[in-house]
Amino acid sequence: MQKLAIQGGSRLNGEVRISGAKNAALPILCASLLTGDPLQLGNVPDLNDVATMRKLLQQMGVAIVVEGGQVALSAAQIDKLEAPYDMVKTMRAAILVLGPLVARFGEARVSLPGGCAIGSRPVDLHIKGLQAMGAEIHIEHGYIHAQARRLKGARIFFDLVSVTGTENLMMAATLADGVTVLENAAREPEVVDLAHCLIAMGARIEGAGSDTITVTGVEKLHGASHRVMPDRIESGTFLVAAAAAGGNITLTDTRADILDNVLEKLQEAGATIQVSGSTINLQMNQRPRAVNVRTAPYPAFPTDMQAQFMAMNCIAEGSSMVVETIFENRFMHVQELRRLGAQIDVEGNTAVIRGCAQLEGAAIMATDLRASACLVIAGLVAQGETVIDRIYHLDRGYEHIEAKLSALGAQIRRIK
Ligand code: EPZ
Repeated sequence: MQKLAIQGGSRLNGEVRISGAKNAALPILCASLLTGDPLQLGNVPDLNDVATMRKLLQQMGVAIVVEGGQVALSAAQIDKLEAPYDMVKTMRAAILVLGPLVARFGEARVSLPGGCAIGSRPVDLHIKGLQAMGAEIHIEHGYIHAQARRLKGARIFFDLVSVTGTENLMMAATLADGVTVLENAAREPEVVDLAHCLIAMGARIEGAGSDTITVTGVEKLHGASHRVMPDRIESGTFLVAAAAAGGNITLTDTRADILDNVLEKLQEAGATIQVSGSTINLQMNQRPRAVNVRTAPYPAFPTDMQAQFMAMNCIAEGSSMVVETIFENRFMHVQELRRLGAQIDVEGNTAVIRGCAQLEGAAIMATDLRASACLVIAGLVAQGETVIDRIYHLDRGYEHIEAKLSALGAQIRRIK
């Protein structure tokens, strides 16, 4: 098990290039299944989850060539319509092969993803939507077995906003017979990026980014080239780290227009933000002020940024409230922060943090992807050394994080 050792107290200064978005790359890799033509992708991040998704597609027969951030995929010879449990259990996003497989091949066997640290995370909305489009679905021995001669367009209402639910059904609808309307659809930028890629492949999609997406099915999709959008959560994570540790950093190859809520909160905390084109500069020369956050579907405050802000609130001036409305158990980082001396009370889905002047370094443990980012930020500001165990969680979603942080002046190293 690898660990990260962090010597706290350094400010962060310099430039960091933001990688392609994990949560856009994962559905877009699955979109390759919708055509026999080659799909050329750029700016694909080098992450464990992306590697797992590539392996999953390759075991189905997708030919994949990787050169740095360029990934070429060809699903011309698919000989297996299955996503096995041993791959799905480590990466829930594997569920995203379900829609494309049923749409193009009329059949799929995908393992039910288990729960995960942050919640039970069912996929009932994915299944209900495919059934509405005419798929026969049986769940047996932990697998979803879906069959459909040809999916038919349908009107589908999501009674909960679901990002991958929206993505799965949007992909399925591109090859269905007729028009599909997804109501109460997720508005996340990653959904829009996937729609742009599908449209480049010949899909007919309107309304991506709004809560109503209309897809007019076509007979076939063709190959295309697409550059994956920048990762807004990686961007937010580095900005919060600099707001907590103090300093002056510039993010390059990123986008500010999809981070409004996060940038506003950082300014409320006392940071100075300057945006120009694809760069964001943040300067922080004071102890952050505590800020309240309440997570909700985009464009509200992102649940994937909740833990990072909690780390900043632990050493901020004043008290703050963090309310998590998306997942039922996304406070796993609280008990680890308490080990560093943080003053946090949790009542249901609400955490109250009383900012203290100083955290003390200690040995702590990562529990899930964004919680581990939170612990890295806490380690950057704690006095003395913090050692974080189980950092495989971090490697799932952050490309070379210790290299990027070291380049900004952090004293951080990986212990084999
Ligand atoms: C996506 O997960 C992201 N993952 C998550 O990012 C992100 O936290 C989440 O959206 C919310 O923004 C990817 O895009 C790969 P949901 P997803 O379906 O799609 C419930 C990260 O850190 N629900 O939007 O799985 C569900 O339990 C990851 O990068 C159902 O009840 O989330 C949750 O409470 C973590 N039934 C809520 O809806 C369903 O069929 C939102 O889940 C589907 C979801």
